[in-house]
Amino acid sequence: MVFASGIFNLGLYSTLAPAGQSAQVISDIFWWMCIGALIIWVIFAAILLYTWLRPHPHDTQTTARFIIGGGVVFPVIILSVLLYFSLSPLPELLRPAPEGSLRIEVSGAQWWWRVRYILENNEVVELANEIRVPVNEEVQFYLKSEDVIHSFWIPSLGGKMDMIPGRTNQLNLKATKLGTFGGICAEYCGASHALMKLKAVVMEKKDFNQWLKSQKKVAKIPETAKARRGQELFKSYGCISCHSVRGVYETGVLGPDLTHVGSRLSLGAGILPNEVKSFHRWIKEVDKIKPEVIMPPFDMISEEEQEALAVWLEGLK
Ligand code: CUA
Repeated sequence: MVFASGIFNLGLYSTLAPAGQSAQVISDIFWWMCIGALIIWVIFAAILLYTWLRPHPHDTQTTARFIIGGGVVFPVIILSVLLYFSLSPLPELLRPAPEGSLRIEVSGAQWWWRVRYILENNEVVELANEIRVPVNEEVQFYLKSEDVIHSFWIPSLGGKMDMIPGRTNQLNLKATKLGTFGGICAEYCGASHALMKLKAVVMEKKDFNQWLKSQKKVAKIPETAKARRGQELFKSYGCISCHSVRGVYETGVLGPDLTHVGSRLSLGAGILPNEVKSFHRWIKEVDKIKPEVIMPPFDMISEEEQEALAVWLEGLK
């Protein structure tokens, strides 16, 4: 039911603006159910109106028939039809992905997403809070959790599916439209659950390949004195014990990989624009931006040092 998707383009997180095969199936079910519910509502409203406007006594037999017909037979038929309609798309939603499909491992963590592209020969490209996929291709998502239960949901592409500690859930999605869509965590997972977002970008295959190639590279060498200072401070203040920047500092595994953090569409798991100012704020008062986050605020260091860190990080394109 494509007609409605244009009218209901409710921003980045809309199931009513499907851009994926699974999302289309789900959106179709929604619209068929809406139409069904509307028809039933009109019939009952008409009967109600009729009895109000033309009240007259009925014999017991007619009343009994009406109650059994309207109260038992009718709901049984309608609910059976609805059950059939809502179960029949399951095989399509749970379809297997063809051999050799792109594999992306996404792990939920409080409150961000670790994203790992598993390439042929098991080479891994890690990033965070951003997923890019080629259009019209089946993609296999392997969903995990690093702490509590999260739920992976990109409404415009399909889903959602829980991310459960200790197990891997698989979800196959196929994007059918180019564009940038939003993803959110759909399971309450702690104080900053509502601040756990991601960006999903659907690209032409050749643009996607180019992007993946750029993500594989190690971090670029800082060009300015300020950025160089930022890179040094990153080590001396211990940021490297949690974050990795490939090619420079590769020890940190707890927090998001920052190798190309400056190239991402947003910061802080989809909540801030990617600019020096946001990095600066994040470093200085992360606890105010994302309550109860593991990373401590670095408000004990000078503004100038915060700025240098921010400049270096933003430059990691
Ligand atoms: Cu993660 Cu809610």
